[in-house]
Amino acid sequence: MIALGCDHGGFDLMQEVIAHLDEKGIEYKNFGTFDTKSTDYPIYARKVVKSILSGESEKGILICGTGLGISITANRYKGIRAAVCHDCFSAEATRQHNDANILAMGGRVVGPGLALMIVDTFLNTPFSEDERHKRRIALIDTPEEE
Ligand code: RB5
Repeated sequence: MIALGCDHGGFDLMQEVIAHLDEKGIEYKNFGTFDTKSTDYPIYARKVVKSILSGESEKGILICGTGLGISITANRYKGIRAAVCHDCFSAEATRQHNDANILAMGGRVVGPGLALMIVDTFLNTPFSEDERHKRRIALIDTPEEE
């Protein structure tokens, strides 16, 4: 299951993502927003985070105007690794190296053609399982131990 969340700045691009997931038969849960009325991106970031941390969803896609505010919010939560990607190289690398569990994008930054390639890359690229990457990911979640 893929958890989806966006604000008004990401709404239009999220409709493209939803149509793409429908076409591919990929299961998702859409946590809104459901129109272009101005709203607050942390609301949707938190809903997607909760779906992932509870085990309901394996990954998430968050879209706001820039991908920034919504990813900053998501990254406040331990166990969440939200990566803003506006190119396929970064989407592949953040799965392989960071085991990112949320893809964040900006609806005002990237067009739908590229965005859907980024989504496919993110969803289809496995974590490398490399020990050095596992060690670094573990360090992300333990800042209090330093
Ligand atoms: C909303 O105008 C905009 O600030 C929001 O979508 C996002 O880009 C914030 O980081």
